[in-house]
Amino acid sequence: MKIIKLAERKKIIRAAELLYNSKNAIALTGAGISTESGIPDFRSESGLWKKYDPDIYSNIRSYIKDPTKFWKLAEKIAPTLFKAKPNAGHIALSELEKMNIIKAIITQNVDELHQKAGSVMVYEVHGNINRFNCFGCRASYTKDQVMRKLKKEKQYPPLCDICAAPLKPSVVLFGESLPTFEIYQSQALAQKADVMLIAGSSLSVAPVCNLPLYTLQERGKLIIVNDEPTYLDERAEVVIHHKTGKILPLIVEEIKRMKSESESESTS
Ligand SMILES: NC(=O)c1ccc[n+]([C@@H]2O[C@H](COP(=O)([O-])OP(=O)(O)OC[C@H]3O[C@@H](n4cnc5c(N)ncnc54)[C@H](O)[C@@H]3O)[C@@H](O)[C@H]2O)c1
Ligand SMILES: [Zn+2]
Repeated sequence: MKIIKLAERKKIIRAAELLYNSKNAIALTGAGISTESGIPDFRSESGLWKKYDPDIYSNIRSYIKDPTKFWKLAEKIAPTLFKAKPNAGHIALSELEKMNIIKAIITQNVDELHQKAGSVMVYEVHGNINRFNCFGCRASYTKDQVMRKLKKEKQYPPLCDICAAPLKPSVVLFGESLPTFEIYQSQALAQKADVMLIAGSSLSVAPVCNLPLYTLQERGKLIIVNDEPTYLDERAEVVIHHKTGKILPLIVEEIKRMKSESESESTS
């Protein structure tokens, strides 16, 4: 683990100040916030795309052509996703919501770890791995129902009980459109945000990578915590190239210090 240098300390304090003084701060998270929970991201050196071609495995056209291939990959990845637990980064964001600093999280993640960490206002713009839909009649299925079907039927893909079309996890594949409510809501939140805390995203997947531009247009400020550079580093107020699981709790600690200082000032 990298040691926190003085320059980074200063940035942590600056990030804490921005968040502490904000009125409508939101967080935007990506796969990077969950790597410390054991879920690989897509694009870094140990990312999933180094092993599996997204054109074959994560594209709606390929899914339609051969859903079995998709389900075979899902079988390999799912146990890691299902058993993952929130890490210090997820917990820090839920604390920020409880402190009424972060008003919502927009996440590209499908792993539900924000909710498991206690966050409530979570907008999942790329869907959720724990819900499934029929590709024909759109009937919805829970994870447990699908698990039971797979155990009983012993075949891929699991088929809908009503219309016999293949089931699909409610995750957004390349070539599919994003859920309308979540995307409009995220745009509105980004526009209204005076501070956007971006954590663990390469900011390379559209349209989500454009959300910070709405915040910048309205003179909101960006804080980026990511272990590699992003295209918006130059336009951000604070950029910390480090692990989210390390930095986000330090930001929370600093905000708590500011809060207790101002409380003791007001009582003295
Ligand atoms: N956990 C999940 O739900 C999960 C996992 C893999 C991919 N995805 C999908 O990945 C797509 C790609 O976009 P993205 O931007 O979310 O992911 P991405 O893979 O494009 O980028 C992740 C970024 O996080 C950085 N990173 C990795 N671990 C980090 C850590 N501990 N601390 C700080 N930075 C870290 C990487 O360097 C990279 O820049 C999304 O559509 C999302 O749905 C989700
Ligand atoms: Zn159906």
